[in-house]
Amino acid sequence: MRWATHGKPSEANAHPHLDCTGNLALVHNGIIENFSALRNDLLASGHELRSDTDTEVLVHLIEDEISQGLGLAEALSAVLGRVTGAFALAVVHSSDPDLVVAARRVSPLVLGRNGDVSMVASDIPALLGHAKEFFVLDDDQLALVRPGALEVRNLDGSPVPLRPRAVEWDLEAAERSGYPDFMSKEIHEQPQALADTLAGRLAEEGSLRLDEDRLSDEDLRSVDKVFVVACGSSLHAGLVAKHAIEHWARLPVEIDFASEFRYRDPVLDGRTLVVAISQSGETIDTLQAARSAARQRARVLTVTNVVDSSMARESDAVLYTRAGPEIGVAATKTHLTQIVALDVLALYLAQVRGLFYSNELSLLLDGLRSLPSLVEETIERSGEVQATAERCAEAGSFFFIGRHVGYPVALEGALKLKEISYLHAEGYPAGELKHGPIALVQEGSVVVAVATRTPLWEKVASNIAEVSARGARVVVVANEGDTETAALADDVLWVPKAPSPLFAPVLDVVPLQLLAYHLARLRGNDVDRPRNLAKTVTVE
Ligand code: F6R
Repeated sequence: MRWATHGKPSEANAHPHLDCTGNLALVHNGIIENFSALRNDLLASGHELRSDTDTEVLVHLIEDEISQGLGLAEALSAVLGRVTGAFALAVVHSSDPDLVVAARRVSPLVLGRNGDVSMVASDIPALLGHAKEFFVLDDDQLALVRPGALEVRNLDGSPVPLRPRAVEWDLEAAERSGYPDFMSKEIHEQPQALADTLAGRLAEEGSLRLDEDRLSDEDLRSVDKVFVVACGSSLHAGLVAKHAIEHWARLPVEIDFASEFRYRDPVLDGRTLVVAISQSGETIDTLQAARSAARQRARVLTVTNVVDSSMARESDAVLYTRAGPEIGVAATKTHLTQIVALDVLALYLAQVRGLFYSNELSLLLDGLRSLPSLVEETIERSGEVQATAERCAEAGSFFFIGRHVGYPVALEGALKLKEISYLHAEGYPAGELKHGPIALVQEGSVVVAVATRTPLWEKVASNIAEVSARGARVVVVANEGDTETAALADDVLWVPKAPSPLFAPVLDVVPLQLLAYHLARLRGNDVDRPRNLAKTVTVE
């Protein structure tokens, strides 16, 4: 069943939707914004609508066009000219069962072909192992899909040449390969994903390269402000990047939820670099935020995991994370690779602005190179994290706290726990707890504190003492061998010390992914497909 945007998830609201004759069937991802007016017109002209969905209006509108003598593709084009909103859809008519007509605006749609077989899907992983060639539709294009034959047109009927897209992912990457679920596979793939994301970016002589950057160094030198836009875990990676860019590149960084950014009046101009972060490259809020920034002449650099995604194609520059396909709904390896990609960007900005002595930069690059093996060590402690999860399993409420770059780690830990274990969790800057939320902390609460050794460790230690005094069970993320931190806590999640405090989130978030994973499994949840969530959110 599709993510519900209108009406509750029910049989009547499930796709496909049929027209009055029962000859047309249509599936749709996205939102038809003017559906209410269209629905009233249809009801007034005698159509019988059976669901509460926005989608159903489409199929009845097509029915009207066909009754005027148009073919399926022409009828769909005519209807799409009348609707506003976002869609990726596919429609069939019983008179020509070998033909599927598909179309998109904003929501992603890909086509695949393998000999006589043609395919339509929302994303490339769905076609891995089935398609040999992949094609991506642009906005306001439609495809006529028949066995072994694909034809793409613009809505005005003009033909669009088919250009196959290079897809390096293989089927193995989209299979569980012996792991109980994709989430654990993807957590274990993190060291390799980090190494792949860094490969080729750190040159031997200690300088940095952004190969997919279509902005010149001159363009980057003219930047006087950075604006980060993203959602969910990608936003948390962006919060880490804010620290990194401000510290190393000495540029002011603003950050906002993409869904908020696009509806306010941010101050941008041609010297603003907007960094849009999205593993899928298709999240509609982030895509529209990037588009609105581009309209205000800002340069847009996208950090994404999906080659040729909508955001990648539309941006001035792209920095790909090379995590491979992520199937589990909860972001893990894509989140970690976003952080290192953004570290690379921060260091690169600093380098073009002439802010580094070469030995300082090469030490940081060595630090980045060491992260994959340090993450490997962290994952090896999964059994210890599981034991901690068992001890916390009865808790009613979780608070994740951290300061500086530990704060986005706390947010990410809380988000992972909410998403897959359905436990109540909140992430807070540790110093903010005493301004209200601490009233909720009591016996039976668990406070997870990111307490690795950064310059703010002592402050975090006092915040831990505050929650301990109120009866909470305290779990700390601490550096291996740090007995002083361990003494503050009931449980310790050990991580190696990061080569620079700004790299600490790459390590510190891993035990929190594992904690969420083990708690969700203990509760018998499907970690890969949590309730109410979609991997790519293509609705506002
Ligand atoms: C968290 C999660 C979501 C995504 C968010 C943005 O585990 O998966 O919060 O991070 O929907 O998605 P992308 O990065 O594709 O834009």
